[in-house]
Amino acid sequence: MIFLVGCTIIILLTVVAIVRSKKPLKTLCKEAKYDLVYNYIGSRAILQDIIMRGSNKIELSLKSGKNAIITGGTRGIGLEVIRMLLKSDINVIIGCRNVKQGELLLQNFRNDGIKSGNIDVINLDISVMDSVRNFAKTVKEKYSTINYLINNAGIMFGPYIETRDGYESQFSTNYLGHFLLTHLTLPLLKAAGTKEEKSRIVNVSSCAHIAGEINFDDINNRHGYIAGAAYAQSKMAQILFTKYLDKLLQIEEANVQVHAVHPGIVNTDLFNGTNLKKCMPLIPSLIFKSPLKGAVPIIYACLSPYLEGKGGTYIVNCKVLATSNATDSEVLQEELFNFTNKLLNITAFGSGD
Ligand SMILES: NC(=O)c1ccc[n+]([C@@H]2O[C@H](COP(=O)([O-])OP(=O)(O)OC[C@H]3O[C@@H](n4cnc5c(N)ncnc54)[C@H](OP(=O)(O)O)[C@@H]3O)[C@@H](O)[C@H]2O)c1
Repeated sequence: MIFLVGCTIIILLTVVAIVRSKKPLKTLCKEAKYDLVYNYIGSRAILQDIIMRGSNKIELSLKSGKNAIITGGTRGIGLEVIRMLLKSDINVIIGCRNVKQGELLLQNFRNDGIKSGNIDVINLDISVMDSVRNFAKTVKEKYSTINYLINNAGIMFGPYIETRDGYESQFSTNYLGHFLLTHLTLPLLKAAGTKEEKSRIVNVSSCAHIAGEINFDDINNRHGYIAGAAYAQSKMAQILFTKYLDKLLQIEEANVQVHAVHPGIVNTDLFNGTNLKKCMPLIPSLIFKSPLKGAVPIIYACLSPYLEGKGGTYIVNCKVLATSNATDSEVLQEELFNFTNKLLNITAFGSGD
């Protein structure tokens, strides 16, 4: 009897939620499908982090005189990436929205006893293409070489929002802005790389790419927007870009290699607003990776000598793993690359202007 009453209440609540959401049934079904897929991918990734925890490590070595750009990084995983870059005596150019907060970081790191490396904070909103152009211009005025470009800034889920340029915010932040930044800074990366030690571009992607599809007909996913689908699309786009660009650079014999990284399932603000954090706020702190452990594979992709000459790869817990079958399609990689160049009016990718 109690069971029947319980089921009836759940069904009634579900019906009320459906009616109140005013979303078409098709969208609601697709949303439910994505929820299931994310639960599956997320649980698998957490298990993977536990099983592979022994491999998720790197020994830092000094890289004095080298320059790194990181997008975001005043909090979350990026903050720990910056800590390790400083320990390696690298000059870190932080592209972030809150310059004051970025500038405070150096003092905090010095107070923590890190005396090596330096920080240069430059304003950047990666989701706004003019801001990306201004950032790259300032970087070029100040530096002639960049050794590492870490495309880290990201957002996940949230409501449908269009940026100033008219792009869905996850697509714009996670993929499009970083594509443009890579195009604009490639000459500096090429100038820094040598045959023995190539420069590296590291795209912080996600295991969520597995659920991705590139919706060329409606790249904003405006019609029947599903936040999970848009996030997965943006993360898949980063992987397709990684593989295609690395191939182009190899053909060109440029001394730059490109990697994609899944940092793990990491306890950061990225999960704020998700059902998981709302309903079970303790779970992330209990079973997710710490931001420090999430930063390790990103640093590995930047600095590990074992990856020299092994661009185009996807790094998880400091191991090279396979990506989804769909991302291996050269046709799709090329289609997205050309499509993105068109969106951004880029005629010669990597020319820097
Ligand atoms: N956490 C995970 O489990 C997980 C798993 C897979 C992949 N990732 C990826 O890892 C990366 C870092 O995520 P996180 O977990 O560290 O998230 P986080 O704690 O929420 O930090 C996100 C960072 O991105 C910056 N950012 C967001 N939008 C920006 C914009 N428009 N312009 C400039 N910076 C912006 C934020 O800066 P503000 O302070 O200005 O907002 C912040 O520094 C993301 O690409 C994410 O997709 C994370």
